[in-house]
Amino acid sequence: MSTSDPCYVIHGGRPLRGSIAVSGSKNAALYALAATLLTADPVTLRNVPRIADIDEMAEVCRSVGSTVSIEGETVRTSTPVITSTEPPAALIVRLRASFLVMGALLGRAGEALCAPPGGDVIGSRPLDVHFVGFEALGASVAREDGGWRVRAAHLRGARIFFDYPSVLGTVNVLFAAVLSEGHTTIINAAPEPEVAMAADMLIGMGARITGHGTPTIEIEGVPRLHGVDFAVIPDRLEAGTYLLAGAATHGDVRVLNAVPHHLDSLIAKLREMGAAVDASPEGGIRVEASGALKAVHMQAVPYPGFATDLHPPMAAALTQAAGVSMVHERVYDNRTLYVNELRKLGARIVTAGEAVIIEGPSALSGTAVRALDIRAGAAVVVAGLAAQGETTVRDIGHLDRGYAGLEERLTTLGAEISRR
Ligand code: EPU
Repeated sequence: MSTSDPCYVIHGGRPLRGSIAVSGSKNAALYALAATLLTADPVTLRNVPRIADIDEMAEVCRSVGSTVSIEGETVRTSTPVITSTEPPAALIVRLRASFLVMGALLGRAGEALCAPPGGDVIGSRPLDVHFVGFEALGASVAREDGGWRVRAAHLRGARIFFDYPSVLGTVNVLFAAVLSEGHTTIINAAPEPEVAMAADMLIGMGARITGHGTPTIEIEGVPRLHGVDFAVIPDRLEAGTYLLAGAATHGDVRVLNAVPHHLDSLIAKLREMGAAVDASPEGGIRVEASGALKAVHMQAVPYPGFATDLHPPMAAALTQAAGVSMVHERVYDNRTLYVNELRKLGARIVTAGEAVIIEGPSALSGTAVRALDIRAGAAVVVAGLAAQGETTVRDIGHLDRGYAGLEERLTTLGAEISRR
């Protein structure tokens, strides 16, 4: 990126205090947009975050026949006819969730040709789980033009075992299975709240699904789905990032609409660090960290374990905790790009195999750093808020992909942050 791209300038070192609400979940909203392809009826989605990835996903849907209008946080779509089962590779490579058109097109039109999806460079990110599922439902999968063609004259329900509880893999196979004939069981499915929400939306469209939100999902196929008016769940990763910014700055932050049971693992670790956490379905989650913070050991694993997407901002917060912390990354093999950036700010942090070791507390001081992916960007923003002096964050296009109104929300909490 050129130096003329916008950047954040943060004057850190002050405790964040106050209450904010977060946007709808980025990832869940992307799944919801892809799900709209499964019906010929109009669909209305509410609480959709105003972020770049939603615009990209809307383009993907338009490329196969949808009309999509975005007004504030409401998205209206209509896909009376699938006009193409071959979304342009140039669109698919822009984000990871674009690959969900494959399951949606397979379910609705019996065919799709899709390029490999884009997304953050945080690990090898294979797609085998998706294809195992499609093949089990009776589809053929073949390499073509650098991508994959899936095709099925007739999708039939099956008992499907996933080697790994892939999040997008579960949603993709769910999309194809809801319109298959007969019964499908997905074993070792991803139980993430965003996956469960996608299933809830499909149920609202007439699908018959049970067990979503657990590792075993049961689906009874139906011949067609209808339209729905559906609200996206609050973003637990965005909420977690603000709570960690509150802890890192020894502040007092409440995220009003955070869903506590989506963030049990973070709440437990914040308490272990010595922060006071109040959580209730009515009041959201409040973290208060006026005293010293303590080091913790933890691992980033699939839900309900500690979310890999909160690992980088957690590591940033742990630079302010006394003692030696360890974060063991067990989802991605390249999640630690942020480590060098935190070192530039004065953090004592090293990688050791799959683990990151942090010695704290460090007196961070502001300097120029980069947002290398969405969550690496969250890490440098959290660290910049805790650092004395001026931190400049470049490449914030990554943050714009995932965090709606980041600077406004942080300003509400008393941060000094501006976009230049
Ligand atoms: N994996 C396999 N086989 C597969 C697919 C994945 O072994 O076929 C492994 C990968 O190697 C990786 C792990 O599974 O180690 C996680 O991959 P998964 O497929 O679960 O991730 P994803 O569905 O591609 C979504 C989110 C990510 C989030 C992960 C894990 C979207 C668009 N992306 O990715 O979110 O990190 O689940 O929770 O929903 C982000 O929001 O910043 C982000 C990267």
